[in-house]
Amino acid sequence: MTQKHKPKGTLLAVLDIGSSKIACFIGRVIDDEGGFEILGVGHHASKGVKGGTITDLDLAEAAIRQTVHAAENMAADIMKGYPLREVVVNLPGVHAASHVHTADVRVDGHEITSNDIRRALAKAQEQVISDEYELVHTIPMNYRIDGNDGITEPRGMFGQNLSVDIHMLTGDMGALRNMATSIERSHLDITALCHSAYAAGLASLVEDEMDLGCTLIDMGAGTTSIAVFHSGRMIYADALPIGGQHVTNDIAKGLTTSLHDAERLKALYGNAMATSADESELIDVPRLGEEDHRVPNHVPRTLLVGIIQPRVEEIFELVRGKLADSGLGTAVGRRVVLTGGASQLTGIKDLAQHVLDKQVRLGRPIRLSGLPDAVSGPAFSTTAGLFAYISEHSHEMPAEIMAHAEAHGLWERVKFWLKENW
Ligand SMILES: Nc1ncnc2c1ncn2[C@@H]1O[C@H](COP(=O)(O)OP(=O)(O)OP(=O)(O)O)[C@@H](O)[C@H]1O
Ligand SMILES: [Mg+2]
Repeated sequence: MTQKHKPKGTLLAVLDIGSSKIACFIGRVIDDEGGFEILGVGHHASKGVKGGTITDLDLAEAAIRQTVHAAENMAADIMKGYPLREVVVNLPGVHAASHVHTADVRVDGHEITSNDIRRALAKAQEQVISDEYELVHTIPMNYRIDGNDGITEPRGMFGQNLSVDIHMLTGDMGALRNMATSIERSHLDITALCHSAYAAGLASLVEDEMDLGCTLIDMGAGTTSIAVFHSGRMIYADALPIGGQHVTNDIAKGLTTSLHDAERLKALYGNAMATSADESELIDVPRLGEEDHRVPNHVPRTLLVGIIQPRVEEIFELVRGKLADSGLGTAVGRRVVLTGGASQLTGIKDLAQHVLDKQVRLGRPIRLSGLPDAVSGPAFSTTAGLFAYISEHSHEMPAEIMAHAEAHGLWERVKFWLKENW
């Protein structure tokens, strides 16, 4: 396989394009274990992005530019005036799809090497290449040698035939093109893409969770994305086009107040589950469009909670449905980790536990030390996780696999040659 970690001193930058904020972190590899030091961070309210989709190229480009400049300025001493050239970017879950493929290669009795695995992965990749979507992750899940199942590490073993079950994640070409255009217009190249919930999981899960089976739910403003981990790998990903912004919209409509006030009321007094203490409490709701904010509406807090709860319940019910339909069965595991900005809603853990019937905890980036306080919360799990991806999972990048898969035997070499030259 390719080198696991990036060499010490390497500068890396990540860009997380969300529906409510855009974030850019610049970091440097400081040890041989893939540890990072954060040199610069920038974040900015998102513009021209709705529900994980670019809706206005010019607005998105301007917001990306401002975010990147802020991070560059903070890292100016180290970057010595050189602009950022490359970034690793999130793939919004709503534009991704999970597929499982199986590929076989002959090994003819020799000792199985990393290259045999890459040949199998490359073969599967060739089968899924299409104009409609771009291959983003190629993750081997399970191996068989001559029909013997359940092999987790085939390297060094012997056999005639190696078979691999592979989780392949694709991104919609149209949505990706628009993202790429708004990024490239800021003079940045995309070195890799990583699914938002996958990145959030890499940032916020502990190893045992990834090994034993865990579902990561990244609750953003416009999207809720899920990534299921088992045996240390991502085995499934999915998403819903609903997030915290929909809760805010419901509040604004339900209480006839502005989106700005609805957002504030949600964070200050919101709760995902009704409690008896809410009944007697009154909250002040500024009236929409009225000049005089001194005469707000007094409404019972239960009214606010009564608007929030059904929407968040709906989100978890849809997640439960997706997990049930995934066919993963018990591999989904008993554990759920909630992260993303919208996971900060009071009472959300209890509601998730109730609807999903799993052990739930709240997650935030734990694997990246030295994050400034302003960007260390759950809204930045995806951003932080993009570092973990580029540093520790580059062997799952389709282009890396293709570049390093050496053809085996004369006929395959000829086929490779024909493919590349004709
Ligand atoms: N204290 C809070 N309570 C409830 N919700 C909150 C709180 N703070 C932030 N949020 C919600 O978090 C959401 C933003 O989360 P996040 O930054 O993860 O989204 P994003 O990455 O921009 O969007 P997406 O990933 O969906 O494209 C907003 O909808 C906001 O209302
Ligand atoms: Mg996000």
